[in-house]
Amino acid sequence: MAKSPSEPSLSEARAEHARLGEEIAAHDRRYYQEDAPTISDADYDALRLRYEALEKAFPELATAESLTKKVGARPSEKFAKVKHAVPMLSLGNVFSDEEVEDFVARVRRFLGLRDGALLFTAEPKIDGLSCSLRYEKGRLVQAATRGDGYEGEDVTANIRTVDEIPQRLHGCNLDVLEVRGEVYMTHKDFAALNARQKEAGKTLFANPRNAAAGSLRQLDPKVTASRPLHFFAYGWGETSKRLENAQWGVLREFESFGLKVNPLTKLCDGAEDMLAHYRAIEAQRATLGYDIDGVVYKVDDIGLQERLGFVSRAPRWAVAHKFPAERAMTILRDIEIQVGRTGALTPVARLEPVTVGGVVVQNATLHNEDEIARKDIRIGDTVVVQRAGDVIPQIVEVVKEKPRGAKRYEFPDVCPRCGSAALREIDDKTGEADVVRRCTGSLVCPAQAVERLKHFASRNAMDVEGLGDKQIEFFYDEGLIKTASDIFTLPEREAHMSPRLAEREGYGETSVRNLFAAIEARRKVPINRFIYALGVRHVGETNARRLARHFKDFESLRETARDAAPGGEARARIDSIDGVGPVVAEALHDFFAEPHNERELDALLKQVTLEPMPAVASTSPVAGKTVVFTGALERLTRDEAKAQAERFGAHVAGSVSKKTDLVVAGPGAGSKLKKAAELGIEVISEDEWFARTGQG
Ligand code: IVH
Repeated sequence: MAKSPSEPSLSEARAEHARLGEEIAAHDRRYYQEDAPTISDADYDALRLRYEALEKAFPELATAESLTKKVGARPSEKFAKVKHAVPMLSLGNVFSDEEVEDFVARVRRFLGLRDGALLFTAEPKIDGLSCSLRYEKGRLVQAATRGDGYEGEDVTANIRTVDEIPQRLHGCNLDVLEVRGEVYMTHKDFAALNARQKEAGKTLFANPRNAAAGSLRQLDPKVTASRPLHFFAYGWGETSKRLENAQWGVLREFESFGLKVNPLTKLCDGAEDMLAHYRAIEAQRATLGYDIDGVVYKVDDIGLQERLGFVSRAPRWAVAHKFPAERAMTILRDIEIQVGRTGALTPVARLEPVTVGGVVVQNATLHNEDEIARKDIRIGDTVVVQRAGDVIPQIVEVVKEKPRGAKRYEFPDVCPRCGSAALREIDDKTGEADVVRRCTGSLVCPAQAVERLKHFASRNAMDVEGLGDKQIEFFYDEGLIKTASDIFTLPEREAHMSPRLAEREGYGETSVRNLFAAIEARRKVPINRFIYALGVRHVGETNARRLARHFKDFESLRETARDAAPGGEARARIDSIDGVGPVVAEALHDFFAEPHNERELDALLKQVTLEPMPAVASTSPVAGKTVVFTGALERLTRDEAKAQAERFGAHVAGSVSKKTDLVVAGPGAGSKLKKAAELGIEVISEDEWFARTGQG
C-alpha cells in the first residue's frame, strides 16, 4: 500500500509537497543530467511516493506544475537534440500486492470489462537508461536517450558501438520502426570498469546504472566502445505500420528481428499470476548479473492499451511493481539547516557515510522539526536510513537498542543565515501552527535571495540559459547580482569592470558571450512566465497562467494586488478568479504591497518587455470546446470518454448549460438531451464523436 500521509493539514501538506518537489527536482537533475545521483533508487521512490500520496490526499496540490506530470529532465547541452515523435514517458510505481490488484481492477473498470480473461505481460524492470533506436527499412539510423521524455540526446555514434544492438534488423523492411528499451551494464563489467577507473585515479561510478549512463553519454564513441553495454528491447515509439496486436507478439517479433528481449518476460492472466511471477523474478534477482529494480506489468492487447491511453506522465496500461526500499544503519553526526526560497528551514541529517543498495549515502532529509521530535532523533543516534528510487534518503527510525545520543536537537528559532526570527505561521482557520518554520527576513536573508534568483532564472520561469544554480551563487557571492534586475544590467556593468568577467577563474570569453546572449534573449518574456518567475508564494505556473489570462496586462494585476487589502473590492476580484483562492490573493497582496518589491519591479520592468501569454495550439476540432456526455455510451466508459475528450483539448462538464458547445448522447439520454435541444446546442452520437475526433 502507498503510505498514506499521516493526516497533515492542507497547509502542512502544501509546504511538504513544495519542499519534496524541490528535493525531487534536484535529484532528477543530478540523476538525468549529471549522472551523479546522491541518493538511492529506493529513497527516491520513497520521496516520490510521499509526494504522490500528498496529491492523492489533497488533489488541489496536483497542479500542472506537479512533478507527477513531468518526466525526467531536460537533456544536457553536450549532444544534438532529438525530438521524440512519440513521447518517451514514465511509469507509475506500486509497492504492494494490494496495489497490483488495484491496478488490475482499475484497468478493468476503465475498460468496462467485468469478467473474462485480461492478459498482462510481466517482465523485469531493468535499472539502466532508456533509449530509442530508430530503424528505417531495417537499418539503424538514429539513437536517442529519453531526455525529458519529449526531447532526448542524439547518441547514435555511441549506440553503434553496442554489440547487442543490431545495425540491421533481420527481415524487417518497415519504413520506420523506433525500438525502445534499456541500455545497462552487468555487475561484472561494472566492477572491472571501476577497477580500471581506480587504477587511473579517476572517479568511481556509484552503481552500474550511472556507469552505463556515463558510458553512453561520452562525447568520444571510442570511450563508449571500451565499456561493454547491453540492451533489452521492451517497447516502441513511431512505427510506419501497426505491429502485432499484442505486446507479447511484438516482443516475439523483435526477437525475430535479432533484438534482445528479456527472457524472464511472461504472459500472465490476472493479478495472482502477475504476483507469482514477481516473486519468481525477485527470487532470481541476486543471480541475474545485472540490476533490476522491480517488475513491469503491461496490458497485453495493444487495442486495449490504446483505449487506456495515458494520464499525465504515465500510461494507464502499465505499472512498475518496485522491490522494497533498501535500508542500512548508520550514525547521525549532525543536523544542518537549509533555507529555501520562501524561507522554509529544512533540517538535513549529516550521516556517517554508508552504502545503501550500492550508493554511498551521507545526507538524509529530516523533513521538519516535528518529524525530529516525533522520532526523537538525537545527534549521535544510530539511525536506519532508507533509500528508495533515486532521491533523497530518509531516516525511518532511531535504533533505540543502541546507545542513545545524549544531545537532543534544538531547532533554531532564528534563521542560521541572516539571524532574523524564524516562525511557524498559525493558520487563521484551524489555529494550528504550520509544520514549516520560516525565516522572516525575506528581504535581508541572503539564503532566500539566492534561492529566489535561482527560481527567477530557472527553466520554467525566465529560462536564462547558462545561469544555473552554481552561477547564481557565484554572481551573488561576488556581489554582481543581488536582485533579478541586476541580471539584465550585468552585461553593461561588466563592460566597466576590472578585472573583466572573462579574466576570472571559471569564466572564459565564450561562456561570457553565451551568457550575455542568453540574458538578451530573455528581455522579451510572456507575462505568465514573468509572474511565475517573481516567486510569489503559492503562485506556481498554473496560478501564474490564471492571473495572466484574467488580467492580460501586468500593470492591472499589480495595481489590483497592491490594493487587495482584506475585505476590499480588489481582493474580491482576485478571489473570484477561477481556481485562485483567498490564500493566493493574500500572498499577492503581501508581495505587491511591499515597498522593496515595488522598487525592484520598477527596476525590472525597465529591463524586460512582457508579451501576451502564448495560446495553446490544438488542431482537434473539439479543442477548447465544452463537451457533455450523456446516456449509455457503447464504445467508451465514462472515464474513458472524459480522458479522450481532454486529450483532444476539450473540457468535459457534468451538466448542460449555455456554456456547453457539444453534447454526445447515447441511448437512453433524457433531461440533458432535452436541455440541449432547448438551448440549441449541437448533439452528436458516439460514432459521430469518433469521426469528429479523427478516430474513424
Ligand atoms: S516500459 C510508457 N518496460 O523504467 C512506458 N520500462 O519508470 C515505457 N524500464 O523510462 C516504459 N525496464 O527506462 C518499460 N521492461 C521495462 C522497463 C522499463 C526498465 C525503465 C524505462 C522507463 C522507466 C520508467
